[in-house]
Amino acid sequence: MYRTHHCNELRKSNAGATATLVGWVNTVRDHHGVIFMDIRDREGVTQCVFRSEENAEAAAMSHQLRHEDVVQVTGRVDVRPDVEGKSTVNAAIETGEIELVATELKVLNKSEVLPFQLDKELSNEDLRMKHRYLDLRRPRMARNLRQRHAITKAIRDRLDAEGYVEVETPILSKSTPEGARDFLVPSRLSPGKFYALPQAPQQYKQMMMVAGLEKYFQIARCFRDEDLRADRQPEFTQVDIEASFVTEEDLFALVEGLLADAFRASRGVEVPTPFPRLTHQEAMDRYGSDKPDRRFGSEIVDFSDVFASSAFKVFAGTLERGGTVRAINAKGFASVTTGQVKRLEEIAKEAGAGGLAYIKVEGGEWKSPIVKFFSDAEKAALTERLGIEEGDLVLFGCDQWAVCCEVLGRLRLEVASMTGLLEGKEDVLDFLWVTDFPLLAYDAEESKWNAVHHPFTRPRAEDLALLDEEANWDKIRAVAYDVVLNGYELGGGSLRIHESDLQARMFGVLGVSEEEQATMFGHILTAFQFGAPPHGGIALGLDRIVMLACHESSIREVIAFPKNNKGIDLMSASPAEVDFKQLRELYIQSTVKEKKG
Ligand code: AMO
Ligand code: AMP
Repeated sequence: MYRTHHCNELRKSNAGATATLVGWVNTVRDHHGVIFMDIRDREGVTQCVFRSEENAEAAAMSHQLRHEDVVQVTGRVDVRPDVEGKSTVNAAIETGEIELVATELKVLNKSEVLPFQLDKELSNEDLRMKHRYLDLRRPRMARNLRQRHAITKAIRDRLDAEGYVEVETPILSKSTPEGARDFLVPSRLSPGKFYALPQAPQQYKQMMMVAGLEKYFQIARCFRDEDLRADRQPEFTQVDIEASFVTEEDLFALVEGLLADAFRASRGVEVPTPFPRLTHQEAMDRYGSDKPDRRFGSEIVDFSDVFASSAFKVFAGTLERGGTVRAINAKGFASVTTGQVKRLEEIAKEAGAGGLAYIKVEGGEWKSPIVKFFSDAEKAALTERLGIEEGDLVLFGCDQWAVCCEVLGRLRLEVASMTGLLEGKEDVLDFLWVTDFPLLAYDAEESKWNAVHHPFTRPRAEDLALLDEEANWDKIRAVAYDVVLNGYELGGGSLRIHESDLQARMFGVLGVSEEEQATMFGHILTAFQFGAPPHGGIALGLDRIVMLACHESSIREVIAFPKNNKGIDLMSASPAEVDFKQLRELYIQSTVKEKKG
């Protein structure tokens, strides 16, 4: 037996008992020849004291201890004494009322000096990732991994209780359109052919519905070769759900229950349900985002009616071309610096704006080169609708609807971050549903229509007739929804097409030829001919849920072995070169030349 107790277990009530602990040397202090050592395991720390009168050999050995050595200590549990009339109790740790007076010490393994200290935050993420096994020893990271376990378990338990069956679907699979690039795996047995790693188990889970499983779920690893960000990894985990004979309402209630369980299990909070809902149109109109952060105001206000015949030709002209003029009030931000204005302009341009019009309200004056064009009625409307006061900064968007919303949505977030609007809001959990996403979006560059969610998503019954005429395609709403938390898209799903002919029609709209339909989606179109039930589902990003539950700002902090922003695992140094012999076996020729010899 290695241990009798873990390092966060001994209390006053154990006083006098003999105990054996194992763990890592957390700290060592030499106090006039007496060694105080904190031993740490995953549960916590306990102070051990080495005195030569207890065991001279162990005490002598304790002088050699270094941080992170692995040790086994046996001793007597003593209540911490008063020294010179002062208590030595350490209220900061749960074992702080006792100490283990060591009678035996065994060093199970020695540690070299660490490349970084475990008790300090480290900004060099590359160094953390290179020695991830050490990074994960830090309490914050250990907590995150255990929170992830608790959340996953709560979700699994709830789905099990609701009758959902966990099914594993292939990792070596076929390309499925989820909008990102595929990771490909060459096949040795079928020369020249490739598997694709699943971007999501979408088609398999729909096949499970045709199979009559009715309620499917999977904690599913997904792979997407896309540009990485704080909330995006090339491999990530979905809580993937599909059910037959369900309505949107059934799925909303299920997911609200799951997320409430997850946040109860992790943060110990009660999440109020049902979640509020916004249509996609409303979310874009008011927040300029399909994943709005509503923890602060600064909502977008429409001024299209006000500027239709304005003397300011940029506004009037945009409106004449069917565009829109909108604005947000960055309250109290007239103090914006030149550098910040430049940054806001950059953001607006990245989002598609031609430029950025703004007004600073300072010294009782509206400061902006465009104000001279505004009539009194225009100024009055701005003041009234935006509640403009001394010290405010008004930012305008003037473009076609989609671009205008996107521009102001991004400016709204940037202003919030510049002015600290989210400070003190860390504990607010603003869950909401965004519903009625558009079914299709036109890609002008490629001159083709794309599915906004994916090609299996069902058009709203009342909008189905709009499919007849291409001019109306952008007006078709889908039975598609996202669940959003504090500005993050936690999950997305839809009711599906279950009719073979409607599915084929949809592929046609998306420009998939009949030939391609047969080779790429033949299995789906055939399966739907054999009594496919009405069905729908959703996938939640598990990494994002855990990130938010743990108050982290990157999913890398809640994944044991994440990739960095270049898609590299610095610990194992992958991806890595492979033997040219391996490539030959896979019928792969590389443009990277084989090294001589
Ligand atoms: P979607 O593509 O919206 O839907 O993905 C669902 C959720 O998965 C998470 N997610 C990611 N998390 C981390 N890194 C990534 N690269 C990443 N990409 C997506 C997000 C997202 O909301 N098959 C459909 C679901 C369905 O229709 O049932 C799908 O995959 O939290
Ligand atoms: P995700 O769930 O991570 O795939 O989020 C997709 C959303 O991210 C889209 O709605 C885009 O508006 C947004 N997005 C995509 N690329 C960028 C980018 N480079 N900068 C900011 N937002 C982006």
